[in-house]
Amino acid sequence: MQKNNFTILVLAFTSFALSIYTVYNSVVLNEKIEKLQKQCETDRKISQPIITENDDEEFPLGEYMGKLQYYAHKAGMAGKYQNWELAEFYVHELEETVEFLTKQNIIDEGKEVSKLLSNIMPVVNLLDKNTKEKDAVEFPKTYQNLLRNCNNCHISVDKPYIVVQEPQRDFDGQKFKK
Ligand code: HEC
Repeated sequence: MQKNNFTILVLAFTSFALSIYTVYNSVVLNEKIEKLQKQCETDRKISQPIITENDDEEFPLGEYMGKLQYYAHKAGMAGKYQNWELAEFYVHELEETVEFLTKQNIIDEGKEVSKLLSNIMPVVNLLDKNTKEKDAVEFPKTYQNLLRNCNNCHISVDKPYIVVQEPQRDFDGQKFKK
């Protein structure tokens, strides 16, 4: 009789230990699942921008070219009237825009646009120098040289029909004469 009681006790203890172990295991397992789920979520969050980047989103190069034309036009007008302060302002805008574009690593229809744009930087810098030195003789020459460089690039990117030239008239709505 006592032996039987002992067996029941052992059995009861074993089943109790087993159930504790099972509960413990399921808690640990749940934690592991939660951890994995969180990991998956962060992985998805990290990979999202990469997907949009590859989503054939084109760089708005045409808009930036419009900016270049706008600043070049205004710099040209200011230089023509020897309004050096204003010219310096626009040449600086030109420098910043060209510099920004060269850093974008733009490849458009197989043409290395950013690399080609970095070639005009020395001319823009020279225009800056002419402006700072208030050099009315060199400024128009450098300006013509810059526009030649713009057009040469348009030729090398198979857009020879885009031809920029010296502005013939003032930009309406702004004072250029000092
Ligand atoms: C990489 C060589 C390159 C250089 C250097 C360059 N361009 Fe362009 N330009 C382009 C390309 C490429 C386009 C066509 C962009 C597009 O596909 O929308 C363009 C388009 C243009 C357009 C037509 C878009 C519009 O807004 O009307 C103008 C104007 C223009 N460029 C002005 C200039 C001026 C001004 C300069 C010099 C200060 C210049 N570009 C220098 C490559 C160049």
